[in-house]
Amino acid sequence: MTSKHDALVAREKKVLFQTYGRYPLAIAAAKGARMTDLDGKQYVDLLAGIAVANLGHSHPELLEAMASQAEKLLHVSNLFYQSPQVELAELLLSTCACDRAFFCNSGAEANEAAIKLARRYMRTVRYKDAGEIITLSGSFHGRTLATLTATGQAGRIKEGYEPLPAGFSCVPFGDIDALRAAVTQKTAAVLMEMIQGEGGVLPLPESYVREAADICREAGCLFMVDEVQTGMCRTGRFWAHQHYGVEPDVFTTSKALANGLPMGAMLAKEHVAKGFVPGSHATTFGGGGVVSAVAAKVVEIMKRDDIAGRARDLGKLALDAFRAVQAKHPDRIAGVRGLGLMIGIVLSGPGETIHADLRQRGFVCNLAHGTVLRLLPPLTIAAEDLLAFAQALDDILGSDKKTS
Ligand SMILES: Cc1ncc(COP(=O)(O)O)c(C=O)c1O
Repeated sequence: MTSKHDALVAREKKVLFQTYGRYPLAIAAAKGARMTDLDGKQYVDLLAGIAVANLGHSHPELLEAMASQAEKLLHVSNLFYQSPQVELAELLLSTCACDRAFFCNSGAEANEAAIKLARRYMRTVRYKDAGEIITLSGSFHGRTLATLTATGQAGRIKEGYEPLPAGFSCVPFGDIDALRAAVTQKTAAVLMEMIQGEGGVLPLPESYVREAADICREAGCLFMVDEVQTGMCRTGRFWAHQHYGVEPDVFTTSKALANGLPMGAMLAKEHVAKGFVPGSHATTFGGGGVVSAVAAKVVEIMKRDDIAGRARDLGKLALDAFRAVQAKHPDRIAGVRGLGLMIGIVLSGPGETIHADLRQRGFVCNLAHGTVLRLLPPLTIAAEDLLAFAQALDDILGSDKKTS
């Protein structure tokens, strides 16, 4: 590492909470699917800020939308009507079967809103004392107290935060009988990701999702989908639930919504949205002018340029290329899974060395649970970049290095 890098790391260690396990890489700039470090070295970005820059970094049309809205109006609060917010809601609702949007600032906040809505809808619209929220093992829904409690993972996410909020339970991933047994008259909602992202790129089987939606309908509880990571064309459809032929009562999104500006959204069917009335939920910044104008441009570009189709085609190309690498190194790669450009390459052993070697060769991706190379590139990435990554992985596995 260079002195510039080391100096920055030393300053960081003194002043910031040490909550992040960071890669040994300091990014100075990013454009399209390329990031540049402090010394000017370029990297192919196969992570997009964790599924955020779906249209690539510093997209010129988004920069233009941001600048022109900032000149007009930055922030006035939700005490006022603002046209970018309404325009964004109209555009987003045109991509799905929901009827109303609530805007906030992050994925956790969007899920927090969904949990609150489910409970309040049951009490004030359905007159039912049902407040239980069911989630799946391995899931990730955020870091607020309610969403970390909803998260189906043990460990540091939850450790030391007791007492956790009541009314949450977790069922095994993909086990439909367990879900059927868990849903009762006390259940307000079942919340799930179509493909678990932090869980290591794990898609739910189609039959499970359809049956889960049926179970919720029959029991009179809400079927809610967390599209914080899978949303916004990532999986080859605008929303991942559209692969499964289901219509959630409520779904949430965030990461790619404003392509790098902090924003979240909760979308709901009309009858469920009645669970919120003036004063029952709010945020100061949610749906502000600049983030809304940028997000509206994101949706417009995604529809105009068929970004979902692009993710589908590139995803197929990438999966084929990675499976070819797997066929050459069956002892090193246990599986390749994913949908669109949300891809996990499951290594047979610990992957830290491979992950670091890839970075050395100029490719940035994520390593989930120590063994899954998780790829969430910009959906605008060139096919050649994906093929070059496959080649680099092939070269690394072909060398004499062991996986750890
Ligand atoms: C599926 C899912 N839900 C919720 C969240 C939380 O989003 P945020 O970090 O914006 O609060 C994440 C973040 O990774 C996520 O992947």
